[in-house]
Amino acid sequence: MRILVTGGAGFIGSEYVRSALRGDLPGSAGVHVTVLDLLTYSGNPANLEEVRDHPRFRFVQGDTSDPVVVDEVVAGHDVIVHFAAETHVDRSIASAARFVQTNVLGTQVLLEAADRHRAGRFVHVSTDEVYGSIPEGTWTERSPVAPNVPYAAAKAGSDLLALAWHRTRDLDVVVTRCTNNYGPHQYPEKVIPLFVTNLLDGLRVPLYGDGRNVRDWLHVSDHCRAIQLVLLGGRAGEVYHVGGGTELTNRELTDRLLRACGAGWDMVDHVPDRPNHDLRYSLDITKIREELGYAPRVPLERGLAETVAWYRDNRAWWEPLKNAAPAVAGRGLPRRVTA
Ligand SMILES: NC(=O)c1ccc[n+]([C@@H]2O[C@H](COP(=O)([O-])OP(=O)(O)OC[C@H]3O[C@@H](n4cnc5c(N)ncnc54)[C@H](O)[C@@H]3O)[C@@H](O)[C@H]2O)c1
Repeated sequence: MRILVTGGAGFIGSEYVRSALRGDLPGSAGVHVTVLDLLTYSGNPANLEEVRDHPRFRFVQGDTSDPVVVDEVVAGHDVIVHFAAETHVDRSIASAARFVQTNVLGTQVLLEAADRHRAGRFVHVSTDEVYGSIPEGTWTERSPVAPNVPYAAAKAGSDLLALAWHRTRDLDVVVTRCTNNYGPHQYPEKVIPLFVTNLLDGLRVPLYGDGRNVRDWLHVSDHCRAIQLVLLGGRAGEVYHVGGGTELTNRELTDRLLRACGAGWDMVDHVPDRPNHDLRYSLDITKIREELGYAPRVPLERGLAETVAWYRDNRAWWEPLKNAAPAVAGRGLPRRVTA
């Protein structure tokens, strides 16, 4: 099987590529992988170091919204796993144009090329954030999308386009919507690597508002296995939820990270909340469990401990990113200021 992975130099895409080429994902023995990635600020060649010289690996630097590049790259692939996106909510609130360009237009360009080349399955990787916020209960795959922030709106737009390509052109599309991921190689603007790397440096951490927002946390390896199960066995035109079943308030998450790093609540700054910050996300994962036998394998306690250990042991990966980080609105990426 020849797999085209867009966004394969990012956090989740690179985990998928490394696991697939190791043969760790179901049905991945002998697969060929091409990564198409623009290498934006969050795309990092170091994430693909392990597979750089692998005989079944190829890397193409290019933009998913560039029809010429995409047309050339899509040809000859059996399946496409589409991760490439702008992903940081704070950046989308500060400036949304790039989110529409990459997340919506980039997806449309890929869908058109997949259709033209009659590529096989197109797995569109999406997020629970497309549903907005749910104070109690859980969303099923039939719940209406109602995004609140530009990132989620652009992802919702791309989901709807992908499903429309299935309905109108019979393209073999499946959409996954996943909860918050954590693990190694996550760009240190997202809450877990931001807090852990700050604490490892003896710096304070910024907690939004009163910290009562609830997120469900899933180890990135569980997400990638779920994507592979959907790639192999999901029904065309369907949406599949992927979750971890471990909901935490941001306060609870912060408490766990402080303890894992040997720090106390005196290291926490309460910063003004995001505008219209979604209170809670929650997915019902019955469908993927019953149809495809998916269940998360990494317990949060162990996953968080291993993640903290990875950042502790891999300063050379994240220090250059934090030192070079451009300022962004919201919680941003504080540079080296003392606590
Ligand atoms: N991180 C999460 O918790 C989470 C949860 C659910 C779904 N998702 C989805 O998973 C996907 C991957 O997320 P991530 O956290 O790995 O993101 P990331 O920001 O770490 O990686 C994104 C990758 O896409 C690349 N990219 C960006 N614009 C591109 C373009 N125009 N052309 C080609 N490549 C481009 C970047 O260089 C980077 O390598 C996204 O679609 C995201 O919406 C993420």
